[in-house]
Amino acid sequence: MSECIIQKYDSLNHALQALQDCFSITVPEMLVIAEKFHEDMHKGLTGLKGPLKMLPSFLDTPSGGENGVFLSVDFGGTNVRVSLVSLQGNGEITIIKRKSVPLKDPGGSYDYTASAATGRELFCFLADQIANFISPGVNIFLGHTFSFPTKMYALNKAVLIGWTKEFKTRLAEGRDVNKLLEEALKKHGLHGVRPVAVTNDTVATLLAAAYGDPHTDIGSICGTGHNTCYLEPQPPQQPQHHCPMIINIESGNFDALPANVYDRQLDMRSEKPSEQVLEKMVSGRYLGELMRLVVLDLVQQGLLFQGRPCDMTGFPFKPYSLSPEHMSAMISDDTKGLIETASWLKEATGIKDPLLAELGALKTSASLLAVRSARLAAATYVGILQHLDPLLTNLHTIAIDGSLYEKMTGYAQNLRSALDEILTDRAGQVTVRFTKDGSGIGAAIAAAIAVQG
Ligand code: BGC
Repeated sequence: MSECIIQKYDSLNHALQALQDCFSITVPEMLVIAEKFHEDMHKGLTGLKGPLKMLPSFLDTPSGGENGVFLSVDFGGTNVRVSLVSLQGNGEITIIKRKSVPLKDPGGSYDYTASAATGRELFCFLADQIANFISPGVNIFLGHTFSFPTKMYALNKAVLIGWTKEFKTRLAEGRDVNKLLEEALKKHGLHGVRPVAVTNDTVATLLAAAYGDPHTDIGSICGTGHNTCYLEPQPPQQPQHHCPMIINIESGNFDALPANVYDRQLDMRSEKPSEQVLEKMVSGRYLGELMRLVVLDLVQQGLLFQGRPCDMTGFPFKPYSLSPEHMSAMISDDTKGLIETASWLKEATGIKDPLLAELGALKTSASLLAVRSARLAAATYVGILQHLDPLLTNLHTIAIDGSLYEKMTGYAQNLRSALDEILTDRAGQVTVRFTKDGSGIGAAIAAAIAVQG
């Protein structure tokens, strides 16, 4: 595949300097982003046209007293996870059992994210996983985390507005996903499984953390996708909604950002250009591809791997051939000769004798992109805090789940440092809590709230 040179550089050093400039986000820039984000939240809440959908969730935070055993289905960007969750009613939660199945078979036998599949088939696949997971005839309430923008009409009625994260499954947009699940469960004879609540994964994460920590008022996912929600004390001009209510911002669609040539190129080639601009800069679905575009540019200018035989069908020539896991491994490669990166490069490209400077350039690019991702996410959190409590007089907990936050080397620390840099002497008011399995646990809590009030 031949692609054009994007940005002309005259040496590898010069290129790295230019990349540093184009991917760095300074504190004043983060403050501008936070301010704009805050403005756009207000627009969304008051019904003005803007990038932030500000979707009501029909959920307040839990009391921590909800209890019982619930089934949770977590439909994310990569896997579907089915769990049996026990809420103990004292802020304690146990996952009794859990199973995770990819939405796209790595062996190629199925792909429910592609246009060959329909919404009905996808939900039939979900019901299959549930049928294999629970005992026949069981009666149980089910909470469903659906990690895409939905317009909620009630806690158990959520219409998919549009796919994100490059999903192409047909005949699902505009449909009520709870109904699709209900129909699929019935078809599988699972009459005792009652889907009573649908939540976004950010909302589920907020619920999961708030079950034990009453200061939690922001929930976020930094994983395959990116999005944030918060607890709105009083949405203006929406008197029909009870308050407080968690609002799913759909922050991935925020777009007042300093996009560079690589961001624009990725966006142009994506399934939905001009949409999900923040998500395309932050999330794991796109981070590897952005780095691939950077590396390809350097290769095509003869600044990397010049004259050495290279497999033209893999990285960096094949779109989406680099994952955040690869990037994380490069960032954490502290060996003297960057031998772990060299060994990955050999496997990925066939290049056997890279220069140390070339391996260093890979590590630097990976790091620049990961740091930018964390700083952009942090800037949006500050925008929300400005809306909630401009002087930070109260304590706030930001609950975060997602593979990027959990596994990308240095990600959590970079995010925390960015918050500290922006909030300075008030930073201590804000706790960031890694909320593992928040999406699955939160679905169970949502089901409990639906039936216990
Ligand atoms: C979706 C959000 C979701 C996020 C994280 C985005 O692509 O639009 O609804 O919360 O991914 O999974």
